[in-house]
Order: sequence, then C-alpha cells, then structure tokens
Amino acid sequence: MKFETVNAIEQRKNANILILPFWKEKKNTEPAADFHQLNKIFKEPLQLQDFSGKEGEILFLYAPDQIEKRIALLGLGAKEGFTIEKLRRAYSQLVKALRPKKFKEVNLVVPVLQSLSKLAIARGIAEGLLLANYIFNDLKHDALKEASEGLLERACLIGLDKNGFAEANKCKTIAEAVYFSRNLVNGNADDVTPQRLIAEAKDLAKAFKTVKTHVLDKKQIEKEKMGLLLAVSRASPRDPAVIILEYKGNPKSKDHTVLVGKGITFDTGGLNIKPTGSMETMRCDMAGAAAVLGSIKALASLGIKVNVTGVIPTTENAIGSKSYKPGDVYQSYSGKTVEIGNTDAEGRLILADALAYAVKKLKPTRMIDLATLTGAVEVALGNETTGLMSNNDALADSLIHAGSETFERVWRLPLYDEYQDQLKSEIADIKSTGGRGAGCITAAMFLQEFVGKTPWAHLDIAGTAFITESKRYHPKNATGIGVRLLLEFLEHI
Ligand code: BES
Ligand code: ZN
Ligand code: ZN
Repeated sequence: MKFETVNAIEQRKNANILILPFWKEKKNTEPAADFHQLNKIFKEPLQLQDFSGKEGEILFLYAPDQIEKRIALLGLGAKEGFTIEKLRRAYSQLVKALRPKKFKEVNLVVPVLQSLSKLAIARGIAEGLLLANYIFNDLKHDALKEASEGLLERACLIGLDKNGFAEANKCKTIAEAVYFSRNLVNGNADDVTPQRLIAEAKDLAKAFKTVKTHVLDKKQIEKEKMGLLLAVSRASPRDPAVIILEYKGNPKSKDHTVLVGKGITFDTGGLNIKPTGSMETMRCDMAGAAAVLGSIKALASLGIKVNVTGVIPTTENAIGSKSYKPGDVYQSYSGKTVEIGNTDAEGRLILADALAYAVKKLKPTRMIDLATLTGAVEVALGNETTGLMSNNDALADSLIHAGSETFERVWRLPLYDEYQDQLKSEIADIKSTGGRGAGCITAAMFLQEFVGKTPWAHLDIAGTAFITESKRYHPKNATGIGVRLLLEFLEHI
C-alpha cells in the first residue's frame, strides 16, 4: 500500500471511498477533525442515532456530490484515555470492512487530538492500515485468489504534516518486513527449509550494502563441534546450518547486539513424536528465525544506526532411523554435556549451541533470542503476551517498554536459581528438560547455562507467533511478532 497526503480535504484526488473519523463523547458524537463542509452528509445519521462513533463502528453512506460517491464514518471511541493502540484497532477494523468491497483506493481524513502527538497519530493509523492489509494465499489456486483483490493499494491521508507522512512511510517499511516474516512462517515447511532461509539471508546481503551474510554449513558445524545442533539434525535429509547476518549501521560504535532466532523449519517432536493436533502447525517453529531476518531487513531498509548480528541455527526436527535419542548424552559447543530429556525439546538445544557460539566469536554487548520454545508459555500467557526471561534488569525493562509502545507486549518471568535443580542430570552436566512445572522457565534456565555473563534476554513467542483465528490487525496464522518489538528496542538503545 502506497501512502499519499494532501493538506486539505478540497485537494484530494478521486478514490473509492472517503473516511471520516468521529469521537463518541458522553452525550454526543463529534467529528474528530474539521470537515464541516461535509456536515449535510453525516447530520442525518447522527440525528437518527444510526452511528454513535464507538470504537471500530463503521457506517457506509452515499454522497453523490462528492468525487468518491461513497463515504464511511469511522468511530474512534472516547477522546479521554485514547491511545495509539486504539488507532491501530480502528483502522485495521476499517481495512477488514473494506476488503469484501474490493476497494483499492481510500481517502482518509486524519483525526486531530491534543493528547497524542502528530507522529503517534500517523503511526497508529499507518500501522492499523498496514498490518491488517495482508493475505497469505500463495498456495491457493488462482481462481481462489479473489480475496487478495481486496487489498488496499493507495491511501491518501488528508491533513498529515511532513513529519507525519515520513512516519507513515517508515511504518510501511517496517510492515513490509513484518509481511516478509509472516510469509516465511506461513510457507510450507517443505519450501521454507534451512536452505531457503540461507537463500533469504543471502538475498538480504545482495539487497543492502550494510548487510553481510556468512553461513556455517554441516561440515563447519561438525568442525566447530556444535554437538547439540548436529544431534537434532540427524534424522533430516536436509543439512543444518548456522546463518550469520551482520548489519553494521554504526561502524564507529563498538555497541553490538546479537539476535538469535530459533530456525526449526518443522518440528515433528523427533522420537518423542508429537500427537495429532500438536504437529499440524509446526511449520511455525522457525518464527524466531523469521523475526530476526525481518528485523535485519527493516534495520537495513531504514538505515538505523545500530550494529546488529543475527544468528540463526536452523534444521528440521525430523524423525527417522538416524534420530537422536532420549536418554542419550551429547556434547555441546560450549563443552557441557547434555542428557536429552525429550527429543521434542529440540529448540533449546540448537539455541544453546548458537548462543555459546555467539558469546565466544562475536562478543556482543547484549544478546536477545526469539524462539517458539515451549507450549508452557502458551499455558501461562495465552496468545496475547510473549514470555520474557532475562539475566539483566535493564535489558528486560527496555524490552518491556518496547513491548508496550508497539503493543507486542512481553511479560517477565523469574529465573530463580532454585529452578536449576529441575535440570539436574545423573549422567551428564545438565539435562535438557525440567519436568512438568514452570516449563518455559526451566527452558530458559537451560539456555542461561550457555550465555555466560553476557546481558541476555529470551523471548518465548510460542503463544504469539502463530494464531488460529485472526484478531485485530493480526491475520490468522503467522503474526510476524518480534519485528516491530525489536525495531522499537534497537532504535532506542
Ligand atoms: N516447538 C515446540 C513448542 C511450541 C508449542 C511452539 C506450541 C509453538 C506452539 C517445542 O519444540 C516443544 O515441542 N516443546 C516441548 C518441550 C517439552 C518436551 C519439554 C513442549 O513445550 O511441549
Ligand atoms: Zn519440539
Ligand atoms: Zn520446537
């Protein structure tokens, strides 16, 4: 979707429809900007109380004397307590209501409000429009692709100033990275393989001078003795890889963030095979990797002045005669030996090797990993909130703040030493799984063993990366979670 802007309503070009925003105040419904010249169009519906202006309410009207011929009144709710998130919701609601009508072009009058900055208003509208304007139907037959005809192609934001317009376009660049991430997660596991992730990373390096890609192939992984990644990959016909993407946006600075993304391109569970009902969506198990790729794409597109290295350990967790086995012990890259508690707890194994490798070779200022790591986090926090676990309060607080700004909210869970007892092994240095209680915490306690003293945060996105029903501006299936959160965090380091 392309954004345009004009100063005044009289300057607008033709489009399929004109959108007018309204507040719902205690006793009446008020225009949310100055468009008094259109009074006669909305006077009647307000008087008849056919439209109250409540959050997300939409009333379609005809206006034969206007260029668009069609008008929609959009309710924003009450002015008091209004937030940027309410804008995202109202405008995503609008996109969804327009979709069946197959309108491609809209004119929108931008609401005015003292309590929100102009930039925040531009951002809320742009994100609401953009994030909802997505359909994944690459795998549908052409005749069934109709739905994508409903995607908006042009939005003219009437009354936006220069900075607001720049902000909307920045949101567009970030949304394109979110789409990129969603597409990778939504794609077939047989298409989005470790080799495909390598190709995507190489494409980013081709597209941006500031990005360099380096890949550890199977031989190098063997040479580096990443025993845990090798164990997980054993049953797959496809080679594992560790993809390293270096983005240097601030070459003069030594500050350096490493982002690690879980890249299990399909999780069968291995010999501890997943039951029917749990395996069908496991193409989503590389959503952490997709978030890292998407973030690097957005950083490079915007030229954000930070240094970030993405590290993506990737393989399938397949099942076969070469499968790694529960109860066996494997040696990690760090040297620690690990007893396998359950082959379905494969994510922490490949992350452990990647984290230890990043600490040793990249010596980062801080490290953040994103992973669809545990079903337990979904039990704890549902699909609304990402689990955060960290060894560093300042880092955790910054991520929580970025989460509330973007509404990709994160909630911190404790890493108390006492949980470590659950990972004791009789035969190895550590066991990979910690029993029934606090499953997402013990998974993080396991990862913590491999990060040393590096400030580190772990984001368990198993509940938020992939949803079965669409909600607000999240389409069903891949949400692309993590990209907006990380961008917000990295921009404010
Ligand atoms: N990929 C799964 C976690 C997951 C669950 C992601 C639901 C997305 C939605 C992970 O590899 C896994 O299977 N974890 C196990 C760990 C257990 C065996 C200790 C789990 O959570 O059941
Ligand atoms: Zn698993
Ligand atoms: Zn998994």
